[in-house]
Amino acid sequence: MKPDFDKIIDRRHTNSLKHDSCDVVFGREDVLPLWVADMDFPVPEAVIGAMKKRLEHPVFGYFTHSEAFYQSIVDWMRRRHAWEIDKDWICFTPGVVSGLAMSVQAFSRPGDKIIVQPPVYHPFYYVVERQGRVLLYNKLIRGEDQYFMDFPDLEEKLKSGAKMLLLCNPHNPVGRSWTKEELQKLGELCLKYHCLVVSDEIHADLIMKGYVHTPMASLSPSIAGNTITFMAPSKTFNLAGMASSEAIISNPVLRKAFFDISNGALHINMGNTFGDVALEAAYTHGEAWLDALLEYLNKSSDYLTNFISKKLPALRLYRHEATYLIWVDFSALGVGHKALQNKLVHEGGLGFSEGSIFGPGGEHHMRINIACPRSVLETAMERLQACRF
Ligand SMILES: Cc1ncc(COP(=O)(O)O)c(C=O)c1O
Repeated sequence: MKPDFDKIIDRRHTNSLKHDSCDVVFGREDVLPLWVADMDFPVPEAVIGAMKKRLEHPVFGYFTHSEAFYQSIVDWMRRRHAWEIDKDWICFTPGVVSGLAMSVQAFSRPGDKIIVQPPVYHPFYYVVERQGRVLLYNKLIRGEDQYFMDFPDLEEKLKSGAKMLLLCNPHNPVGRSWTKEELQKLGELCLKYHCLVVSDEIHADLIMKGYVHTPMASLSPSIAGNTITFMAPSKTFNLAGMASSEAIISNPVLRKAFFDISNGALHINMGNTFGDVALEAAYTHGEAWLDALLEYLNKSSDYLTNFISKKLPALRLYRHEATYLIWVDFSALGVGHKALQNKLVHEGGLGFSEGSIFGPGGEHHMRINIACPRSVLETAMERLQACRF
């Protein structure tokens, strides 16, 4: 049966961060929550079925990741990304952000320089700064309707001795699906200056029509040897609450150093029973559901793009290449970002992610999460139009 993404599911009173924390985040309980990156859609039936089946057994003791768990990841990477990986390269992590934090711990020392490419997903800053490392900003360049990497600036930062680069591939919030050429250039520069690439590919499966995802580590054996990749079913299948994701590390030296932290020092490589069950079921049986989701998201993206271009031409949009997050520039309205957020929340009843949280270059932007039923998105756009800027 085709999934029904139009159906509105009331998520309030389920301890949903997106729906039940609006009073804390926006100062109002009743905003339309189009902010944190999860979806208002039910997960694939096969995932629910597998979890119910596991629930029939009444013991939930310690467990190990099964062969089928690892195989489901290997097969997914081959089928969806034409990327051949080995089971031995996979390390479980209880989320991608914790994986990024462990990478910082494993491969740098306090005081080391780590490059990020703002505006970018805000925990990239925290995992570096809160562990006493130094952030270097290789800011993205805004083109007409797309962002680009600033390679001359990147080379300067690499020359200054950066130990690591946190790559967001595809990029949240600017929505770029980086091309092979861009990634190759970045990969080769990092190799030249001995800078490790930590590639967060959590949005890899959410690619809009006309674009493809390239796993950084699929480019060449030498780039793979200098890359740690993070993937997960959490964005793809709306399973963030399962806190289960995977690091893929082909270089055995890097893998051992990572495992020494995740398993040795921190002892957090087990996860939870349902996380494993959900991951395996989603990767094994979720492909048709994902294809239907992508079709729906493409239509929602087209709807929002048409609406804003026709009815709110002062707002600037970028090409939406990947993720279900749309990055919108409000700067032409000449409203400061705090005032803008206030207006959207209190006049529009709209809960978007305010752009300045994503660091330099994010000011005067909003990130709109379109992973909701179309009717909700339509209401949001009507409310946006009704705001008197
Ligand atoms: C780029 C990126 N990385 C990581 C995460 C969160 O990952 P996790 O919940 O697995 O820690 C998000 C969530 O929005 C994200 O956009």
